[in-house]
Amino acid sequence: LPHRLYGSDRANSRGLNLMINSQLQPLQQALQAWDLHYWQARPLLAEGSGAGTGINHPVLSPFDRRQQVGEVQWSTPEQVQQALNSAETAFPRWNAVPVADRAAMLRRLADLLEEHFAELMALCAREAGKQLADGIAEIREAVDFCRYYASQAEHHMGHPMRMPGPTGESNELYLSGRGVFVAISPWNFPVAIFLGQITAALVTGNTVLAKPAEQTSLIAYRCVELMYEAGVPRDVVQLLPGAGRELGPLLTGDPRVAGVVFTGSTATAWQINLGLAQRQGAPLAALIAETGGQNAMVVDSTALPEQVVADVVESAFASAGQRCSALRVLFLQEDIAEKVETLLFGAMQELQVGDPRDLATDVGPVIDETAREKLLKHIEHYRQMKRLLAQAPVPEQLREAGEFVAPTALRLESIGELDQEHFGPVLHIARYRAADLDQVIDSINRCGFGLTFGIQSRNESFAAYIEGRVRVGNVYINRNMIGAVVGVQPFGGMGLSGTGPKAGGPHYLLRFVTERTRTINT
Ligand code: SER
Repeated sequence: LPHRLYGSDRANSRGLNLMINSQLQPLQQALQAWDLHYWQARPLLAEGSGAGTGINHPVLSPFDRRQQVGEVQWSTPEQVQQALNSAETAFPRWNAVPVADRAAMLRRLADLLEEHFAELMALCAREAGKQLADGIAEIREAVDFCRYYASQAEHHMGHPMRMPGPTGESNELYLSGRGVFVAISPWNFPVAIFLGQITAALVTGNTVLAKPAEQTSLIAYRCVELMYEAGVPRDVVQLLPGAGRELGPLLTGDPRVAGVVFTGSTATAWQINLGLAQRQGAPLAALIAETGGQNAMVVDSTALPEQVVADVVESAFASAGQRCSALRVLFLQEDIAEKVETLLFGAMQELQVGDPRDLATDVGPVIDETAREKLLKHIEHYRQMKRLLAQAPVPEQLREAGEFVAPTALRLESIGELDQEHFGPVLHIARYRAADLDQVIDSINRCGFGLTFGIQSRNESFAAYIEGRVRVGNVYINRNMIGAVVGVQPFGGMGLSGTGPKAGGPHYLLRFVTERTRTINT
């Protein structure tokens, strides 16, 4: 039988094409309206919008610290307790709502996201430092998650599965929500991952407490307001902005929590796992974690150098390298290394670092000062070892105004040298001898991360050989390794990179439910 093409009957959101003037101009006009807008965020609870701690935390734009984009009030410990109570009370009612009605809310939300495209893009740029193309991709992905999980929920939960049994007995297997889910999301996909987590949890019948990354609370607040507009009851999704260090333990240590969906660092995932495990006498909770990567690409001597360079630039430097899928370590076979490096370092000189709202910008800022300082320290360490290979130019006034880091290439001797993920536009390059390929693969596997992996080769058996040996979630052959598309490249890693479910894939929702069997003597 031929392979079935899974999900070919559905379509993803079309987004916008910035190369087409008739699409670009209205977008730019619409964005202007949000150029000076000032946003405010605070806890969103079942009872209404809570005042929070009373302290207004300023939100500064990553590309220009002088621009205050808005302010956020963080949640108090009492509000966390209040939210947990409401979410627990709301669960049985929400879990009994027909899945078609829950799915309809997700579809309404998708339409609302498209209607509010300009505001969300402006927020992505001004609060998260995202370029226009990244903002478009981000909102498209969120829209796709809503529609995809709506259909998936109907597919999995629309009808119970009838099981065989003796005459006079009916047996059915069906899926049900687990209870209260905590969704802890990152700043690098403040719309897509934030909403992907929440929509997956709520469409399967769970109630949700969302704790967004501190850096992107304003976007999160607008997204939850749109959820309410789409018909999601206030006690089904509540927003708890605040510092992870303070709110995290209150949430993950609470016996009422049935599951946590988390995207962020491996270290934080461990803390969450520990917090859940230490709840004496509490039910065992589900943990769905998508964490970091030490993503590598292996290039052999048959690869096309021009394609390698284009794919490396995209994989390492797009979104300022702030994707968990981004390329961190490039392995070049020694016969092709000189050629690829020369072309690559030349291409890096052409990269435009700048204001993310500017169409000509290739690389925007990193998220905040802490991230920038960490990256600069790492680069400086390599500079002192005389292993700084190339850097894109960054105008001095940009360095002074915002959190810019020059796209940088560093020489690496082995991947084992890196004791952590460097989350920014920093690429490490190692050369290898063909005879040492197995050692290279072993060294990559020994890191323990397993998210994305790139192979560049025109030799199919070489690609198949490597693919068979690397322990990673997503392998990209002869293309860039970022930008997984919902329902097309289900995304997620293994080992230190996460618990394995694939966001935007056909099995993702199954992690959010429990299975129940009903036997009736008829
Ligand atoms: N899903 C994103 C990508 O594929 C990373 O988080 O780039």
